[in-house]
Amino acid sequence: MRKTILGVLVSGRGSNLQAILDAINADRLNAKIGVVICDNPDANALRKVAGTGIPTAVIERRNFAAKQDFEAAVIAQLDLHHVELVVLAGFMRILSPRFINRFPARIMNIHPALLPAFPGLDAQKQAIEYGVKVSGATVHFVDEGMDSGPIILQEAVPVETEDTVASLSERILHLEHRLYVRAIRLYCEGRISIDGRAVKILPPRQKPKEEGELH
Ligand code: GRF
Repeated sequence: MRKTILGVLVSGRGSNLQAILDAINADRLNAKIGVVICDNPDANALRKVAGTGIPTAVIERRNFAAKQDFEAAVIAQLDLHHVELVVLAGFMRILSPRFINRFPARIMNIHPALLPAFPGLDAQKQAIEYGVKVSGATVHFVDEGMDSGPIILQEAVPVETEDTVASLSERILHLEHRLYVRAIRLYCEGRISIDGRAVKILPPRQKPKEEGELH
């Protein structure tokens, strides 16, 4: 089966990028990373792809007068590498409506909370401070709002009395790595359909029967 081409946008640590790479290398994801785009030349995420042969592009916002020009440079890279699905993996910039409309239902993000609770920055800290007893991770399509797009997958983790922001973040991060790969896999298998805000996960496609196979 043909591999779906991903464009992964990163700004920092790169652990979700690593999880995607690991899944591809272990044949758990029928995808190929066409390009990794990073807005921060010092990001650890760049080290994850060093020596893999995966093209990278460092595009810094400060090198462009307008946000529109910065985004045009990002789009140029995505187009150059024929990216089909844009995967935000710790990309610390808000994308403009113009960018989002260029890839309708083709931009995914992962957020370290159970949306719509605790959108925006420091979601794990927000959860601890609010005193919730469960939190988790959400993979969603990106729309024009802040962490407000149609939800693809969510999974919960407990918040324990003794949890700190660090311990909760670590528990959620483990979950993120599995959840993001699962969501990308569903996309690659053509099993995601969107009806307004509601994302439906379709059953796996039946493999066509081979000639001569017993029915
Ligand atoms: C993750 O917690 C993700 O949910 C959030 O940013 C963080 C990125 O971590 N959007 P990493 O760079 O993938 O390690």
